[in-house]
Amino acid sequence: MGVSALSPTRFLGNISGFIQVAFLLCLLLLLFKAAQFYLHRRWLLKAFQQFPSPPSHWLFGHYREQFQNDQELQQVLKWVETFPSACPRWLWGSKAHFTIYDPDYMKVILGRSDPKANDVYRFLAPWIGYGLLLLDGQAWFQHRRMLTPAFHYDILKPYVKITADSVQVMLDKLEKLADQDTSLEIFKHVSLMTLDTIMKCAFSHQGNVQLDENSQSYIQAIGDLNKLFLSRVKNLFHQNDIIYNLSSNGRWAKRAYQLAHEHTDRVIKLRKDQLQDQGELEKIRKKRRLDFLDILLFARIENESSLSDKDLRAEVDTFMFEGHDTTASGISWTLHALATHPEHQQRCREEVQGLLGDGTPISWDHLDKMPYTTMCIKEALRIYPPVPGVVRELSKPVIFPDGRSLPKGIPVTLSIYALHHNPRVWPNPEVFDPSRFSPAAAQHSHAFLPFSGGSRNCIGKQFAMNELKVVVALTLLRFELLPDPTKIPVPVIQLVLQSKNGIHLHLRKIQ
Ligand code: HEM
Ligand SMILES: *[C@@H]1O[C@H](CO)[C@@H](O)[C@H](O)[C@H]1NC(C)=O
Ligand SMILES: *[C@@H]1O[C@H](CO)[C@@H](O)[C@H](O)[C@H]1NC(C)=O
Repeated sequence: MGVSALSPTRFLGNISGFIQVAFLLCLLLLLFKAAQFYLHRRWLLKAFQQFPSPPSHWLFGHYREQFQNDQELQQVLKWVETFPSACPRWLWGSKAHFTIYDPDYMKVILGRSDPKANDVYRFLAPWIGYGLLLLDGQAWFQHRRMLTPAFHYDILKPYVKITADSVQVMLDKLEKLADQDTSLEIFKHVSLMTLDTIMKCAFSHQGNVQLDENSQSYIQAIGDLNKLFLSRVKNLFHQNDIIYNLSSNGRWAKRAYQLAHEHTDRVIKLRKDQLQDQGELEKIRKKRRLDFLDILLFARIENESSLSDKDLRAEVDTFMFEGHDTTASGISWTLHALATHPEHQQRCREEVQGLLGDGTPISWDHLDKMPYTTMCIKEALRIYPPVPGVVRELSKPVIFPDGRSLPKGIPVTLSIYALHHNPRVWPNPEVFDPSRFSPAAAQHSHAFLPFSGGSRNCIGKQFAMNELKVVVALTLLRFELLPDPTKIPVPVIQLVLQSKNGIHLHLRKIQ
């Protein structure tokens, strides 16, 4: 028996048997996948019956229209003209997002509590973790309730001076770099400034972030992650975690996560060490209101079961990113919009000079005394929304006001960009016209949604608007802004709305 088991023919027979079985299993798996693909595609086609869509390839969907030559934004705008309210957008043959850009449709979805669509947001998880942006359900509710006091106006008030100081550091730097003949790429300088601001305000960080090398490598990592996110969304094979992790982009992303985590860990450790100093702890405990990081650290110290170290890190990573990249985009595009519209720029400057022209430092009370500047900022956020869209997955069927409906399980993209450029909502949408936001102009409650809406709107909305006003006011006092006609910025959707070729401006010092 023993001898015959080892005989060569028996052994080869076993191998060929094994190969046959493996082959059969592969075939079965392939058949199973094909059936899955076919059934899911059929289900989606049926779900979208009432919604016409542009012709699409059975396997590649609208891949070519959307992703070749970075034409995604231009393409969506063409669809907006042809298909009112909404249209299905096919990513692959069995994957589609239902894209909406009508105020009434937005109102319906934002009034519900559907969870975030995992197929997009999960790409962010290894980096920002399950903080406020990615959490759903009860855990989200608890964290939102815990962190809301960090954005109370008593907390936000002193931030005006902190922001103004950061802006002055940036403007001093830009003044040294500004040159009559060549334009300056401002996005990276603005990013360092917004990072400086969020770190000082929300994380009680001391020291000058704008000159610090660690911060520059963090900003570089965030820039890389923006690009990597877009290229992952576009690549069919990279949807799979195992394949992605093995790819060169996946390894690059891993290094960027590491850099980002080192940065946030440093910030947490620094503040923890400060708090360990007993006197400091008591002083802060007596404060009526705590800032963002202190709320988290106290929750961690006083009630360990409510917040783990992992939760804490996720919130810090979330706010570090959301708190600076979005505002950097908003500020850079607003300055670009003002540079290309000198008449509005001058009117804002005169308004700001009326408040601060005699050298008065900017304060909280000034922020609601600059109505024209505010209108221009809003119009810039309309044309260039820093967060171009958000995605939900329907947890129950929905019926829209026009009677059309969708079943449970469909991913819905709320395209803020397409809403803001929808000619049925905003006539001549490409024209920069701040008077759209004059008090007399009436708008649909859901026509302008740079900060989204409903219960999952942006928690940092007020913080962001204040920062935008301070930056615009102080920049216009110091410089005249002019565009660079040889380097017109090209908007692309990455994590936030970016320019493919940077944002280049000429800065002319005002005497
Ligand atoms: C111009 C600047 C900003 C814009 C345009 C913006 C826009 C948005 C949008 C559209 C959402 C909804 C995201 C979604 O549903 O997936 C959001 C959520 C969020 N934003 Fe902002 N944001 C800005 C600045 C900020 C700042 C400064 C902070 C922090 C200090 C912040 C923190 C957050 C957080 C934590 C969430 C998740 C909220 C939740 O789900 O409860 N954002 N933001
Ligand atoms: C892929 O890499 C991410 C980030 O490093 C990690 O969180 C995840 O567990 C990995 N997934 C797989 C399937 O290897
Ligand atoms: C601690 O957190 C848990 C879970 O969030 C909560 O149920 C409990 O009431 C908290 N305890 C204290 C003393 O705050």
